[in-house]
Amino acid sequence: MLKLFFVINLLALPAFSYDNFSRDDFPSDFVFGAGTSAYQVEGAADQDGRKPSIWDTFTHSGKIDRDNGDIASDVYHKYKDDVRLMAAMGLEAYRFSISWSRVIPDGKGPVNPKGLQYYNSLINELIRYGIKPHVTLHHYDLPQALEDEYGGWISKNIVNDFTAYADLCFRKFGDRVKYWTTINEPNVFVLGGYDSGFLPPGRCSPAFGDNCSRGNSTTEPYIAAHHILLAHASAARLYRKKYEDQQHGFIGINIFSYWFVPLTNTVEDITATERANDFYVGWFVNPLIFGDYPDIMKKNAGSRIPVFTEVESNLVKGSYDFLGVNHYNVLNVKDNPKSLQMEERDLVADMAVQLTSLPRDTPAFEFPVRPWGLQGLLEYLKKKYDNPPLFIHENGQRTRRNSSLIDWPRVKFLHGYIGATLDVLRNGSNVRGYFVWSFLDALELFDGYESSYGLYYVDHLDDSDLKRKPKLSAHWYSNFLKRKSMSSEGLIELLQNATIVSPAHSLL
Ligand SMILES: *[C@@H]1O[C@H](CO)[C@@H](O)[C@H](O)[C@H]1NC(C)=O
Ligand SMILES: *[C@@H]1O[C@H](CO)[C@@H](O)[C@H](O)[C@H]1NC(C)=O
Ligand SMILES: *[C@@H]1O[C@H](CO)[C@@H](O)[C@H](O)[C@H]1NC(C)=O
Ligand SMILES: *[C@@H]1O[C@H](CO)[C@@H](O)[C@H](O)[C@H]1NC(C)=O
Ligand SMILES: *[C@@H]1O[C@H](CO)[C@@H](O)[C@H](O)[C@H]1NC(C)=O
Ligand SMILES: *[C@@H]1O[C@H](CO)[C@@H](O)[C@H](O)[C@H]1NC(C)=O
Repeated sequence: MLKLFFVINLLALPAFSYDNFSRDDFPSDFVFGAGTSAYQVEGAADQDGRKPSIWDTFTHSGKIDRDNGDIASDVYHKYKDDVRLMAAMGLEAYRFSISWSRVIPDGKGPVNPKGLQYYNSLINELIRYGIKPHVTLHHYDLPQALEDEYGGWISKNIVNDFTAYADLCFRKFGDRVKYWTTINEPNVFVLGGYDSGFLPPGRCSPAFGDNCSRGNSTTEPYIAAHHILLAHASAARLYRKKYEDQQHGFIGINIFSYWFVPLTNTVEDITATERANDFYVGWFVNPLIFGDYPDIMKKNAGSRIPVFTEVESNLVKGSYDFLGVNHYNVLNVKDNPKSLQMEERDLVADMAVQLTSLPRDTPAFEFPVRPWGLQGLLEYLKKKYDNPPLFIHENGQRTRRNSSLIDWPRVKFLHGYIGATLDVLRNGSNVRGYFVWSFLDALELFDGYESSYGLYYVDHLDDSDLKRKPKLSAHWYSNFLKRKSMSSEGLIELLQNATIVSPAHSLL
């Protein structure tokens, strides 16, 4: 069995120019880290004054059978030990998010001193070990109070409340935090939250989603996205006016991005692929760079997509120091013009494409290792948007929660994608950093505790101590961070050492 495993996986190793590399091949100011987000790891959901976010409400709604983040990985109580693990691993930066409803429980108004204290302590602990905090302000977790009061992101009121929250964070933490991301993957957030309804806040209309009790899939994704862009730009302007001179930090936003490949070489499928990029990436990046939505979106969505006033356009244009990308997977794109004939259209119908998986040679649960997808994406952003500063904010491998600590699929994945990052860097891309998703196993957005992405294993279902155990990928990443040379031969040796030398790493 083991022998078969070896043969298959040796053949599957990527044999590209980026196979043999080390940390020293990257510039010293390039940053390597790992990430988490507040609701996915903190736990302590109702402790020390925190109130629910829309994600808490969603996981507790019974709408679908979901795990929840009440306890999660209990990082709220274990952060000191976790930071020690990060330091021992050699992590240079840690990407985490602030829970808005922990620091301002009702989304606006009174501040929760214990919430501030928690993030101050976490940040201080990171700084003590020389680990740079990269902080996100909104990661799917809008305070429920704002959703209840005025519908959250579908109301323009959100712009002022988000800006006030950002102001508090800059004021309290900005002396130590130099990298701020306003909103995590707003494209997936609004597609899931306002079109299909399968993510918080679960709004949709019956023609497009399941179990929709409120919402409007034809209009709300566009409206929520518009307010997200205005809120982002407003926070960025505030940072530049009030804090940048003293704090010398950087502010950006983050986009989820597949790499799209035309299904066939026909003009239709090639054009459809450009359209898919415009709808997924251009939706947010075009306004930041050019001050307006892509033409094809305005054409296909018509009056359902909000129009930027001149003042708004000028506010949004240029309101970033960097873009963050979350990338995991490659999809094929096929033209689907029929969907434009539907009388009522949601964003997916406006996009007029069919997205399909590529043929695969790996178990369905894991992402195929296709580093060329990341390469394609970063080259595309370089070319289309005049080489903006980029961070790879999320990239990593999904395995089943109860799979082996010898997480060979994750080691292979990281080896390939970090190698590809070096290739695009050497080809002139302005990429500045790479963060593994995730530092430790977390409550996953789509799979709860059934899937895991962590470098550290946590058994959320059967271990009440939530003990952290390093996976093989943690050793691999640590070797890399500690400047060892990484090659396919080295991977095999690492695997052999783990299976032979260390029985503690055998199957759980
Ligand atoms: C990888 O590159 C390093 C440094 O150039 C070299 O010392 C090492 O032998 C190479 N390893 C392999 C397996 O090619
Ligand atoms: C809709 O509700 C049914 C029954 O509660 C559930 O099985 C299904 O997963 C729900 N779908 C979504 C997308 O929430
Ligand atoms: C969604 O909003 C549009 C524009 O206001 C309206 O024409 C349409 O009827 C609404 N759809 C639903 C399902 O409420
Ligand atoms: C892991 O969980 C899956 C799904 O619950 C199950 O099918 C599989 O047998 C489990 N594997 C192990 C090694 O326990
Ligand atoms: C490297 O960059 C150049 C100039 O941007 C581009 O034309 C070329 O396709 C890139 N190479 C790869 C392998 O993407
Ligand atoms: C494997 O183990 C040997 C002996 O302990 C050690 O010298 C070597 O560095 C290990 N290889 C890797 C890739 O960790």
